[in-house]
Amino acid sequence: MRKPFQRIPRDGYEQKLIDMAAELLPACARTPTMSLESAIVVKEGHGSKITDMSGNEYIDYLLGSGPIFLGHAHPAIVKAVRETLEGGSSFLLPNEPSILLAEELVKAVPCAEKICFGNTGSDATLFSIRLARAFRKRDKILKFEGGYHGQGDHVLMSNQWTKETKAYPAPVPNSEGIPKSVEEDVLVAPFNNLDLTVDIIEKNRDDLAGVIVEPMQRTIPPQPGFLEGLREITARHEIPLIFDEVVTGFRLAYGGAQEYYGVTPDLCAIGKSMSAGHPISAVCGRADIMEFAEGIRRITGNYVSLTGTYSGNPISCTAALAALKELRREGVYESVFAKGTKLKNALQKSLDKAGIPAQVLGEPPAFQPWFSESEIFDFRSSQASNPMLNFQLLQELIDRGVLKGHEKFFISTVHSDEDIDFTIDVIDDAVQALKG
Ligand SMILES: Cc1ncc(COP(=O)(O)O)c(C=O)c1O
Repeated sequence: MRKPFQRIPRDGYEQKLIDMAAELLPACARTPTMSLESAIVVKEGHGSKITDMSGNEYIDYLLGSGPIFLGHAHPAIVKAVRETLEGGSSFLLPNEPSILLAEELVKAVPCAEKICFGNTGSDATLFSIRLARAFRKRDKILKFEGGYHGQGDHVLMSNQWTKETKAYPAPVPNSEGIPKSVEEDVLVAPFNNLDLTVDIIEKNRDDLAGVIVEPMQRTIPPQPGFLEGLREITARHEIPLIFDEVVTGFRLAYGGAQEYYGVTPDLCAIGKSMSAGHPISAVCGRADIMEFAEGIRRITGNYVSLTGTYSGNPISCTAALAALKELRREGVYESVFAKGTKLKNALQKSLDKAGIPAQVLGEPPAFQPWFSESEIFDFRSSQASNPMLNFQLLQELIDRGVLKGHEKFFISTVHSDEDIDFTIDVIDDAVQALKG
């Protein structure tokens, strides 16, 4: 039995590090609660737990925002990486791990015929959009309101942090510093609204380079027929359909959301869970689109540039190969789904019992509570929810020894039954505290 959590007060050194972070790191000192009072500096992570500098151990459902699907410092990954590291870390040349990883991705991911590596999810979505533009010889991209695809200028529009909305299909930038001209090439449609999406695609089909979608948008699942309809209309007009599987890839199933929901896109972006926390991502897809990245075209023309100094480095590729080997073990996904289902249902039950209107949405490996009375099925319906309650819940959980992100609970392969049972009790207590 895990002992009840008694938070050790922050010690002087952790406080000093937090003060330094607040001074030196404007973007990341406050994560995940946005409050410096509750900021923690992580010392290390093992399995399903992380420890802060003052010695507090938390059950971790943040999992580095998803990548730590196999738990922290998984022994098989540490061993494989350590061995590869002995032979050098970066070459900008073909190496065995990168070639074997590409072979495994082609086997695993339904749309994958060819692969290009990047380092972050943002690289992979950017690459997929550039490939689609080159293939179609057009510029406009359609994305869905509330969907997040990383930091590229064209996709940092109308994402989950959008405050004001405009009439579809006009985008709303989510950051200062994005040139106004970028907005002209972005169209926005409502997730799960096939009729309006088809209408926007039909009206703009001569200008569209591609359609990018998170197949499960944040934690909002696709309604039956939505992804199928999107596949049908994009195929009809030969517009590449891009699945952003940075979160869902290797998480909802070994073949990602495209296997789980049974819809195959033309291109997809993957990252996070494929590599147990090592920086690597990939764009995978149809050979006739991916071929634009062939190096020789730099000389012959018709070339799409997707290079990066560290892309395909042997360390990250080794980590990914070792991670995928673990994920191919018998029963891995069944176990993650069983634990996720138990926790997701318990969270909903605690919220119902406390009389707090909320819906726990997502799939068992990644889900979150949305604090709203009305049904949530797209971004605009989600605006009725209260994000502050999510932050409060997060704070109450941290005070009780459980860490999650400001959105999701991520379930790993190494969360134990004891972790889940402890968390269920903690959640019940934390949810009661939300009422007060
Ligand atoms: C769906 C999705 N796409 C892309 C990204 C960007 O990935 P990265 O942070 O590795 O650039 C994220 C990151 O959270 C994401 O959730």
